[in-house]
Amino acid sequence: IRALRLGLVPLPGAAHTSPHLATRLAGLTLPNPVGLAAGYDKNAEATAPLLRAGFGFVEVGAVTPQPQPGNAGARLFRLSEDRAVINRFGFNNDGMERVGARLARTRARRPGKGRGVIGLNLGANRDSPDRAADFARVLACCGAHIDFATVNVSSPNTEGLRDLQGEGALRAVMARVMAARAELARPVPVFLKVAPDLSDGALEDIAGVGMAAGIHGIIATNTTVERGGLQSPERDQPGGLSGAPLFGKSTRVLARLSRLTGGGLPLIGVGGIGSAEDAYQKIRAGATAVQLYTAMVYEGLSLVGRIAGGLEALLARDGFATVAEAVGTGRDDWL
Ligand code: FNR
Repeated sequence: IRALRLGLVPLPGAAHTSPHLATRLAGLTLPNPVGLAAGYDKNAEATAPLLRAGFGFVEVGAVTPQPQPGNAGARLFRLSEDRAVINRFGFNNDGMERVGARLARTRARRPGKGRGVIGLNLGANRDSPDRAADFARVLACCGAHIDFATVNVSSPNTEGLRDLQGEGALRAVMARVMAARAELARPVPVFLKVAPDLSDGALEDIAGVGMAAGIHGIIATNTTVERGGLQSPERDQPGGLSGAPLFGKSTRVLARLSRLTGGGLPLIGVGGIGSAEDAYQKIRAGATAVQLYTAMVYEGLSLVGRIAGGLEALLARDGFATVAEAVGTGRDDWL
């Protein structure tokens, strides 16, 4: 983050784009469908350089109303043998006031068209008495400076947060968030980010509540608390597992959501993407756009351009003129 901020990282300068890669996502125009997932630029410190690294969109955060330090001690572990990461950060962030001001400055420097699509991952403070209110407060505070917001009820690192994915609790959260959105001068699309560790029944409830609340998309998925098949010494660390071992599980959840929503909601596929082939598989499983994080830790930022370029070649190979044409064409393979 510091190197990016200081301009020390060589960057291509603009997102790889073409008429084949340009994607519409819930009313937003993306130069390409490859986004940066939440949790990397938690405080919106390097958002403009990250857009110049080639991402079609960047999600910053999670951000909570009050600043908080997150969990103490070691909280990020590389599982190199598994091309994976376990983290238990616990929403360390500067709080909505400071991050909101930073987002406003980022926007002021790059006004108008071509400024890049920036989303904000909304979080709740660990010791908040009213977590539903927290999500709405962060959106109200920062909503003028972003293009979309994500309700993150799926982080495993804030105790009890994932319980907000239950039907009744989720309905209450979404009502608060959608009310805050309606108050914005420019109401932005709201996405809901789900965990990969949900039963079919729970997914059905979530899709139902989301659609009834009028959300604009679902991000599938966050990190997993399940383990299995891992080789690395750090494999039993508590926290959320991301990277290659998450790919199959998160893609199955994506495909199920695609079937449940019947194409009625755009889906963003995330979890274990490390190549153009992976991104293409997510799209064919039902994703309108994709995000990644962990593979970038291993491969560096040049991976982004390689995925976007490779995706274009795969679309051409299979005779798809656009990303949109390919969405969901391989869904049944994952069900
Ligand atoms: C994350 N992720 C995450 N997600 C979220 O919604 N809010 C957050 O604050 C964070 N923080 C975070 C920190 C770290 C260190 C990691 C590795 C991940 C989850 C992330 O956005 C993504 O959903 C998963 O990592 C799966 O994608 P990858 O990493 O397998 O491409």
